[in-house]
Amino acid sequence: MGKTKIGIIGCGMISDAYFKAAQKFNILEVAACADVIADRSAQKQEAWGAESMSYEALLGRKDLEVIINLTPPLAHSKVTTDILNAGKHAYSEKPFGVDADDAAKVIALAKTKNLRVGSAPDTFMGAGQQTARKLIDDGWIGKPLAGTAIVMGRGPEKWGQAPFFYDYGAGPMLDLGPYYITSLVNMLGAAESVTAVTRRFDDFRTLGAEVSDAYKDQYKPYDKYPVTVTTHLTGVIEFKCGAVITVISSFDVYKHGHSPIEIYGSQGSLQVPDPNTFGGPVKVFRPEVGEWETVAMPFRYSENSRSIGVADMAYALRSGRKHRANGELANHVLEIMLAFDKSSKAGGKVMLETTCERPEALPLGLDEGMLPE
Ligand SMILES: NC(=O)c1ccc[n+]([C@@H]2O[C@H](COP(=O)([O-])OP(=O)(O)OC[C@H]3O[C@@H](n4cnc5c(N)ncnc54)[C@H](O)[C@@H]3O)[C@@H](O)[C@H]2O)c1
Repeated sequence: MGKTKIGIIGCGMISDAYFKAAQKFNILEVAACADVIADRSAQKQEAWGAESMSYEALLGRKDLEVIINLTPPLAHSKVTTDILNAGKHAYSEKPFGVDADDAAKVIALAKTKNLRVGSAPDTFMGAGQQTARKLIDDGWIGKPLAGTAIVMGRGPEKWGQAPFFYDYGAGPMLDLGPYYITSLVNMLGAAESVTAVTRRFDDFRTLGAEVSDAYKDQYKPYDKYPVTVTTHLTGVIEFKCGAVITVISSFDVYKHGHSPIEIYGSQGSLQVPDPNTFGGPVKVFRPEVGEWETVAMPFRYSENSRSIGVADMAYALRSGRKHRANGELANHVLEIMLAFDKSSKAGGKVMLETTCERPEALPLGLDEGMLPE
């Protein structure tokens, strides 16, 4: 089977994870890359062998079937639209868009052009998340009734990255929420409503000392940076299956002791691993055992496999099946995330307008570097 040729737009911090992990999937070949800052794509050519070229040249290159969009959130819809208009299938980093209208336009454009659109996160295809889902599907905790999804920290000041995290289109929900909400939808299916209260506690945050090399001309360590998003979002998502999940996403918390995700069922409880990783541990509690047990993970891909969603899309393009990290899923996840601020502002429950199918579970017994045809 020949390889599917891929281009990457946006050669910043996360791109190395894609260049590296794509090498392990037999179906992928990252052939070209581009960045508005040409030095950056030139560096990736040197490091990974993908040919560095201009944005326009990459979009016009005939042999590329899928283009991955690794630009910052505010550029996502525009770049994904350009990719589709160039006649290529598009796969975007998260969030899928920063507002509902833009995301809906991208979905509609892909449909009109008969092209595929996909989006990160693809961590739900990792061994940890697939194991947690299988336990639910196989009835280990009975009917899922309730749960928690909690991602809290003191913010990105020490991550040494571009400070877009306090801009419109980011914040803890749009930046980290995609992992958590996608994990929930993968396990529980589509959601019905969100009721939330959100806060912005500070108008300015002080950047840490570790602004990355790429941004140190733009931002000085300890510069004050304006906060334009809510930084503490708390609420409840009602899923169509009946489960009620309490969510907290925050850049305002120094320390906490909660698990990333817990699901409480009619016959037991489940601790789901950090959905920002591909690994475990997965733990289950059943009353007949009386304590948490760590469950062996029978699936592949427990290590960083960012691009697994693109590999799955490449196989899907050949067989005609649906790809798992698809636009419909990402768009529903985006609507859920945006509903937190919407509900807080309105002072009440927001009924969701979008929906999606649960992505198909991965099978056991896949060979290394492979995904289902
Ligand atoms: N950094 C991480 O750890 C991480 C992890 C997971 C996901 N992500 C997501 O990946 C995306 C990129 O994040 P990053 O940390 O790599 O950001 P980054 O700022 O380091 O890199 C983005 C790159 O895109 C380029 N770019 C911007 N607009 C462009 C355009 N119109 N055309 C071509 N190039 C353009 C920039 O020059 C930059 O090199 C974001 O959506 C982020 O949420 C990042």
